[in-house]
Amino acid sequence: MNKRFNGWLLTFISICFLISQPALGEEKNDGYNGSKKFKKRQAMEKVKQGDQHFLPMPLTIVGAQVNGKPNFQTVSWVSFANWDPALIYVSISKTNYTLMGILKNKTFSVNLPSSDMSAVIDYIGTHSGTEVDKTDIFEVFYGDTKTAPLIKECPINIECKVVKTIDEFPSNYMFIAEIVQVHVGKKYIKKDGMLNTKKLDPMFYAFYDMKYWKLGKSVGTSTKEWKKYKK
Ligand SMILES: Cc1cc2nc3c(=O)[nH]c(=O)nc-3n(C[C@H](O)[C@H](O)[C@H](O)COP(=O)(O)O)c2cc1C
Repeated sequence: MNKRFNGWLLTFISICFLISQPALGEEKNDGYNGSKKFKKRQAMEKVKQGDQHFLPMPLTIVGAQVNGKPNFQTVSWVSFANWDPALIYVSISKTNYTLMGILKNKTFSVNLPSSDMSAVIDYIGTHSGTEVDKTDIFEVFYGDTKTAPLIKECPINIECKVVKTIDEFPSNYMFIAEIVQVHVGKKYIKKDGMLNTKKLDPMFYAFYDMKYWKLGKSVGTSTKEWKKYKK
């Protein structure tokens, strides 16, 4: 009887332990709450830094068809702008060769590279199509837009059609574009249809230290993480 009870107790403790563990691939994290309250733990002394661009940014490759050939440039000023219709924006310097193609065709691609592509990202981000031929760097394919060159080597390709061109700022054009189609490498899609972020291995750019960074571990799940929050 005692032995059976001990067995049940052990099973119960094991289940409790497993439930308390973070999901596979997630880092153990108390959401900065743990024993202390949020405000006390987060407060810190600040140093003013003027108008520096201090947010780490995702790294992408923007492609456009320029003078009948595909051209690519590195872009970190990129994000989503609207839910439905799905809109994306990119900010492109007025001096860039890629800009000519976007202005002419009103289409472009946003390609997500993996972190093992840092060298080529740096090359296309420091060499202009006006000086070097970037046509043969990647294996290119075309999708629904017909004119936005897409990169086969990148895990994700987003085809974009410009819906608004903003030319109100001194250094950059801002293009807001409709997402026409998204292509994802088969091997990055999990059995449940979700993307495997770890495998995608995206890269980030920190302007302030000029370094390329890769992703660490997940520290929580959106819409569930708030449950750890204590005022
Ligand atoms: C890490 C990194 C991020 C960059 N982000 C942007 C960006 O968001 N927008 C932009 O216009 N140029 C950006 N650039 C600069 C262009 O990629 C660069 O000027 C490129 O040579 C332009 O190529 P193109 O003249 O062939 O279009 C970035 C460069 C690097 C290295």
